[in-house]
Amino acid sequence: MDKGWCMFLLIVVGLVLMNVLVVGCAAPHASSIGELRAPQHLRCEYLVDPLGIDETAPRLSWEMDDPRRGAAQRAYQIMAASSETALEQDSGDLWDTGKVASDESVQIVYSGRPLRSGMEVYWTVRLWDANGKPSPWSRPARWSMGLLSPSDWDACWIGDTRTPPLDQNEPLPSPRLRTEFAIPGEGGKVRRAIAFVSALGLYELRLNGQRVGDHLLAPEWTDYHRRVQYQTYDVTAQLHPGANTLAAQLGDGWYAGRIGLADLVPGMPKRSLYGRQPRLLVRLAIEFADGHTQIIVSDDAWRLSTDGPIRVSDILDGETYDARRETPGWDMPGFDDSAWLPVGVFEKVDAAYAGPRLVAQPNEPIRIVRQIHPVAVTEPQTGVYVFDLGQNMAGWCRIRLRGPAGTTVTLRHAEVLNPDGTIYTANLRSAAQTDHYTLRGGDGEVFEPHFTYHGFRYVEVTGLTGKPAIDDLIGCVFCSAAPEAGRFECSSPMLNKLWSNIVWTQRANLMSIPTDCPQRNERLGWMGDILAFAQTACFDMDMTAFFTKWLPDVRDAQAEDGRYPDFAPHPFDPNARFSSVPAWGDAGVFVPWCAYVNYGDKRMLERHFESARRWVDCIQQKNPDLLWKNSRGNDYGDWLNADTLKLEGWPASGAEVPKEVFATMFFARSTELVARMADVLGRPDETEHYRALAADIRAAFNRAYVASDGRIQGNTQAGYAIALAFDLLPESQRAAAKHYLLEGFQTYGGLISTGFHSTICLMNELTRCGRSDEAYRLINNRRMPSWGYAIDHGATTIWERWDGYVEGRGFQDPGMNSFSHYAIGSVGEWMYRTIIGINPDESKPGYKHFFIRPRPGGGLTWARGEYRSLYGQIECAWRKKDGRLTIDLTVPPNTTATVSVPTNDAAKVKEGGHPAAIAENVKCLGTEDGAACYFVPAGRYTFSAPCGDPGAAK
Ligand code: BGC
Repeated sequence: MDKGWCMFLLIVVGLVLMNVLVVGCAAPHASSIGELRAPQHLRCEYLVDPLGIDETAPRLSWEMDDPRRGAAQRAYQIMAASSETALEQDSGDLWDTGKVASDESVQIVYSGRPLRSGMEVYWTVRLWDANGKPSPWSRPARWSMGLLSPSDWDACWIGDTRTPPLDQNEPLPSPRLRTEFAIPGEGGKVRRAIAFVSALGLYELRLNGQRVGDHLLAPEWTDYHRRVQYQTYDVTAQLHPGANTLAAQLGDGWYAGRIGLADLVPGMPKRSLYGRQPRLLVRLAIEFADGHTQIIVSDDAWRLSTDGPIRVSDILDGETYDARRETPGWDMPGFDDSAWLPVGVFEKVDAAYAGPRLVAQPNEPIRIVRQIHPVAVTEPQTGVYVFDLGQNMAGWCRIRLRGPAGTTVTLRHAEVLNPDGTIYTANLRSAAQTDHYTLRGGDGEVFEPHFTYHGFRYVEVTGLTGKPAIDDLIGCVFCSAAPEAGRFECSSPMLNKLWSNIVWTQRANLMSIPTDCPQRNERLGWMGDILAFAQTACFDMDMTAFFTKWLPDVRDAQAEDGRYPDFAPHPFDPNARFSSVPAWGDAGVFVPWCAYVNYGDKRMLERHFESARRWVDCIQQKNPDLLWKNSRGNDYGDWLNADTLKLEGWPASGAEVPKEVFATMFFARSTELVARMADVLGRPDETEHYRALAADIRAAFNRAYVASDGRIQGNTQAGYAIALAFDLLPESQRAAAKHYLLEGFQTYGGLISTGFHSTICLMNELTRCGRSDEAYRLINNRRMPSWGYAIDHGATTIWERWDGYVEGRGFQDPGMNSFSHYAIGSVGEWMYRTIIGINPDESKPGYKHFFIRPRPGGGLTWARGEYRSLYGQIECAWRKKDGRLTIDLTVPPNTTATVSVPTNDAAKVKEGGHPAAIAENVKCLGTEDGAACYFVPAGRYTFSAPCGDPGAAK
């Protein structure tokens, strides 16, 4: 071969290799500059590759991955197939949309071939932008179907059928259940094995000695009389040829254990509100490569023992574990279970099944989301060790122990300390949140509970045989693992701490339902609390799937006449008690609407509309003059307002909005939101009806409670804040209301006097009326009552009460003093909206279009924040320097934003160094309230503008 040929060949080989490397490394995400990349972050029903869904028309979404300005999808094509191979061969045997001209990339409804129980679906998507060339196909994603009808289970509820002790309040030991089955060696390779599992009570499933999945407290809390969730696990890797063992440990949980408030409600048993003994339901479907299947179900072949190590487990009280009762190998093949009992068989789940409806869990499970290490261990009394985790949290501890068999170690959990360094537990009321572990003895053992959770920062450990090491204990933080979506940071360490405290409180209170608190004997899905906090919750975390789970709980708890409950689930009969409270019941309207604004989920509204409408109808029916005087249940009002503080120099009363006024304001707002829901859903008659009704309620409100000089009955700052926030006043009265709103500060020495529901209204309305300086003054304040006071006194989560602890006085009444209550953390909403400037647009929901409206102030020199919308990451960062304000902004592909740049000289605003008026892709919209406004498509932007002195901006 001559030299020329050799060179030629070398070049060709080199080029081929380079190509392989470039394509191999980059595919399928990046393509050469200028070309559209493959879509990312594919989700089905808001989850990544979910298993066992029961939506037969699931909705798909993806994110366009394109940093270019103006990036927008013009068309998409989805292919869905019954196998990965089919998809690889470009065959969408279930669904091929072809090229669909659309800019929609969220909630695309699957409308391919019908989906059946257990079916697997693989899918991919590609896009077109304005250039007309398709992107590469996305990486394949998948989902699988759950069991769509009871007959697909063909399994029995099993458990202990022996008669329990008569005293319903006596806790019972946790049952363990097991069965063995063989996978014939000649049966061939297992292609896929899927376990569908549920319990009345709680379960941990085990297969051949290993835990199945990482879910905690499954199947979680619903109204078990009506509905119970199941979970789906892929256990293919845990099976092997020959003998296999499927086993489960059950716990009482919310079904058979204690539930908050039950001990305080007359006539209620202390525990076992849904049932006395837990039960298990399992279907394991094993598919072999040759196409045949083997099914293992919960049935009479199982055996049961109640002699295991978990002697007591309770959500509120804790767990008692005796490691001497462990029987190693109980969840493995070959274990001698001859001393175990034949399991008791309850109802069969088949075509004739009439028990609680089995539904697939639609949201992220409760799982460990963080592990935290103690910052200190002290010994306030001899042999009493107190671990400080440095952070108030919800979950439990994992502890390493050594000692002789029979030694019992006790872990008590508390949020705060007494002055002498011992733990303060009075505010837990009757919730023991105490774990006991009896050692089996030997080389060291590790304890972690199974079926309980605690709200705590401090752990008191007693019964140890020696001094513990600081790393002997870890705090396992768990919650419903909604993905974290927001971030906040600014030049004030106190505000950064406030944001962190808000998120930690949210983490502590998403426990299958949105709870009020994680520690005392309460922990209920209090509706008023989430009503106040919902928008903050949506900024902090992706709440789509969580609300998809919880709204049916709300509907299940609605009284027959339409009254919404005070909390959901409602274990105490909503027809008889705890329902119809203004601003609590209204969460049944406010929360789905808030979810719609943030996520644009019409299906959620569709499913909820009838229920929301019934609530408004019911209030109207009971109050024909349209003032909400009747049927206000326990009527909590604007809970925990300044009247409860009794501060020296403050009036003894007068901060609280009169209850009738407060109630009527919520009635008007709920009716208005029902009208908007009807409009979104394309129901013109109902839109008109509820719009007119809302107008009538507003008119009745103004006639009855607003004087001609604009004073609202009660003349409370809170009343003006809510009336303005809900747009209840005629335009002519708004100026007066703003005036009185500000005047309100004089009575309370410039401090905050609002309650649970009016606090966020006050903050937002101060900004809306151009007085962000006042809102900054409140958020920066460190005198009681304020967020800053709590932080200066050690808060790592949001306190239930402004005066949870007061210097010189100590703790508030232990009867109601939680240190982890998110309601007044609703100020997080203002921090995102006003400090960072991110605001959803109700008319283009789900951030298809949004507003960036930062209002720097309060002495801050910079702030930056992020929010992961369904379309991708939104970022906004601003800084003030040398008389200029600079805003760096990211608008995700397929969305647009309106940016409002506060400035004292609109003509000098620049973008990317050029006058904003001529910047690429930037459309000038004029000025509004001291800010220059621009419309921008996707992309990154840097606006800069002359601004006044930091802190002077309003
Ligand atoms: C809860 C609150 C709840 C309230 C009703 C309290 O015990 O902890 O957060 O909203 O009751 O007023």
